[in-house]
Amino acid sequence: MYGMVNRAIEDLVTEQLGPEAWDRVCALAGVQTPVFVSNESYSDELTFRLVGAAAGELDVPVDEVLRRFGVHWILRTAAEGYGELMDAGGKTLGEFLDNLPTFHARVVLAFPDLKPPEFTVTERGENRLRLRYESHREGLQPFVVGLLDGLGRRFGVDVSTEHVVRRGDGASHDEFVVAWRDRKAGSS
Ligand code: HEM
Repeated sequence: MYGMVNRAIEDLVTEQLGPEAWDRVCALAGVQTPVFVSNESYSDELTFRLVGAAAGELDVPVDEVLRRFGVHWILRTAAEGYGELMDAGGKTLGEFLDNLPTFHARVVLAFPDLKPPEFTVTERGENRLRLRYESHREGLQPFVVGLLDGLGRRFGVDVSTEHVVRRGDGASHDEFVVAWRDRKAGSS
């Protein structure tokens, strides 16, 4: 994956535990030179090693690191580095998710070697939809859940995500039912 992903993991770990924790994560993951260039490609395996080592430092399961990483990706990485692209994605969660299938087509313009996920929206209701997720990689489903959570926070709505079709159960892809409602004033 592009170095920006590894840099975002660094940002998450440093924000939660400080720079020394990131040094330990790199050492554990066997990274010799812990400087990642955003628009250079690195192996997926390296990214998974960093996530695994971060799980040890944060003392949470790998799936929880991926979920937190999804939230962080939306609220920090994308919002701060790619604000215009995010703004163009939509003004509400529903609009953003309707546009999600074509979202990475614009990202590819900046990152030509991108191997993006494929999203398809089916069964669209007023505040609810079914989202099909296909990937070249296995194991990033909790990242998707975190991304959806982060998008909910971005648009100020409460999101619930149900994982209804699982690749782990032998399906060719994953499907999520995503439902949302306005966040009540005063609730966090
Ligand atoms: C401006 C915002 C965004 C940028 C710049 C971006 C960029 C990227 C990059 C560089 C990767 C790594 C893939 C590779 O290097 O081959 C990636 C992966 C991914 N992105 Fe995005 N992305 C953005 C927003 C989103 C959003 C809003 C979603 C969904 C809600 C999303 C879902 C994913 C997923 C699930 C992956 C993991 C790859 C996989 O499943 O195979 N991204 N993205």
